[in-house]
Amino acid sequence: MQKLIIKGKKHLLGSISISGSKNATLPILAASILANKVKLSNIPIVKDISTMVELLRYIGLKIKIINKHKKILIENKNEKVNTLAPYKLVKTMRAGVLVLGPLLSRYQKAKVSLPGGCAIGTRPVNLHLHALKKLGAKIKIKDGYIIAEAKKGLLGTKIRFPSISVGATENAILAAYKAKGKTELSNCAIEPEVLDLITFLKKLGGKIKISGRKIIVYGKTSIKKNIAHKVIFDRIEFGTYLIAAILIGKKVSINNINTKYFKQEISILKKMGAKIFISKKSIIISKSKNLKKISVSTKPYPGFPTDLQAQLMVLMTQAKGTSKIKENIFENRFMHVPELKRMGANIEIKNKTALIKGPTKLTGAEVMATDLRASVSLVLAGLVADNRTIVNRIYHLDRGYESLEYKLKNCMAKVKRV
Ligand code: UD1
Repeated sequence: MQKLIIKGKKHLLGSISISGSKNATLPILAASILANKVKLSNIPIVKDISTMVELLRYIGLKIKIINKHKKILIENKNEKVNTLAPYKLVKTMRAGVLVLGPLLSRYQKAKVSLPGGCAIGTRPVNLHLHALKKLGAKIKIKDGYIIAEAKKGLLGTKIRFPSISVGATENAILAAYKAKGKTELSNCAIEPEVLDLITFLKKLGGKIKISGRKIIVYGKTSIKKNIAHKVIFDRIEFGTYLIAAILIGKKVSINNINTKYFKQEISILKKMGAKIFISKKSIIISKSKNLKKISVSTKPYPGFPTDLQAQLMVLMTQAKGTSKIKENIFENRFMHVPELKRMGANIEIKNKTALIKGPTKLTGAEVMATDLRASVSLVLAGLVADNRTIVNRIYHLDRGYESLEYKLKNCMAKVKRV
């Protein structure tokens, strides 16, 4: 099994280009089920994307990935379509459940494996099913599969989500796309990745309006033949390198970004004392001494993202005083804490809140990655720690971080994959 070896306390100097967003590419790939011919650019070359591509090929779409140009070409000839998403392809990547909405919308039926749990929480799909049922789908759960059918097609309606879910909002939009009439979704997730999916669907010919947390989808029967879309940048990858640069950057510039989608995070980092200089499409950061404590709660966008909680916690270990992070989105998302403590961090967990006392000197250790964001927080800790850190189980990292060690090495970090 591959691991990363990090020699800490080196400076970061150079520039990092941010890849396209994994969480935007995944629903857009699922949306391609609704399309004929699609050309996607700025896609990240990561494991989750190849798993989704494998799933779409299984369904019957013709797909070519051009790694070098970070492009995917998709063709749905609408022949020999298999409306099944098998367990083996959904179990490693829960976003596989996003094919449910478009399959149901275009082919009136779908059989999709239940995604099951994962390290960070139970990951239920009740909100996805709530929306699809409201649109008229008949749904039953059998042998670990969601079996959905809408013989006469879906019917537009009003749906209010009892709580905010990114995936359920996306699945509902995708299902409503070809439904008859207008669908009014309220209490929706409005993450930039959801908005990128909407931009894609509008290019496909859809009429969709957004106002606050309300999204109105006007059901569409015709579909444009040929569309091209450039996926937005990965704001979580951006935040991760931003934090790396605040920790040990001599001078790092980060490119291919749009700070419009990162205002709240930048304001939090600045409040902690981070030195950040923003220009239109890039940002320059250098190591910040005298970081200050802060209290943060994870929330749906525009709140602070749960996907950056673990990385921010590493920064908090270097800030003076007791910082607090309350995790409101997932019930089990402090799996990195025991590993950070083994590296010397002073962290106590009280219910949903982690109390981080700093600044503490971190020292290298052999640690275990448990999920995507937890693993990258251990890499950040390794960069700032004394001596050598070995991060095991980095297949988690490969699910969502494109060329992590190359990007860091390009900035003179001592990182090696073995
Ligand atoms: C997406 C992101 C993930 C991010 C998360 C929250 C993708 C591919 N993944 O995941 O990186 O951490 O948003 O920003 O975009 N819930 C239910 N019932 C449901 C669905 C969700 O109770 O049917 C709960 C979840 O357990 C969780 C909360 O709602 O507590 C938010 O989850 P959700 O927004 O759905 O996350 P994902 O779309 O799975």
